[in-house]
Amino acid sequence: MTMHTRKVLVGEVADVDRKGSRTIRVDELEIALFRLSDGQILAVENKCPHKGGLLSEGMVCGTKVHCPLHDWRIDLVSGRVQDPDTGCVRTFPVAIDAERGLIYLTLQYA
Ligand code: FES
Repeated sequence: MTMHTRKVLVGEVADVDRKGSRTIRVDELEIALFRLSDGQILAVENKCPHKGGLLSEGMVCGTKVHCPLHDWRIDLVSGRVQDPDTGCVRTFPVAIDAERGLIYLTLQYA
């Protein structure tokens, strides 16, 4: 099976508050964009691997988001759920066009 990738324009950096988040939709996927305190933007599927909590509504601490439902901690860089819980959320590579202030995501398709 070949994998295809697609680069999708999903918004402007200025639309995501520092230390805040924003949700976007690409096809059937809901994706949460987080802008960390250092300005870095990270993207994960907006669905906790536990019971589907909306990660975009969680509190961010460093690079980890706390799920608003049962407080699982998920690393936004790797997508990994932190001990003592286990699991993984899908992450998407982010590319920034600094000159124009645009955010692109890379999506993979089978
Ligand atoms: S749904 Fe996220 S911790 Fe339970």
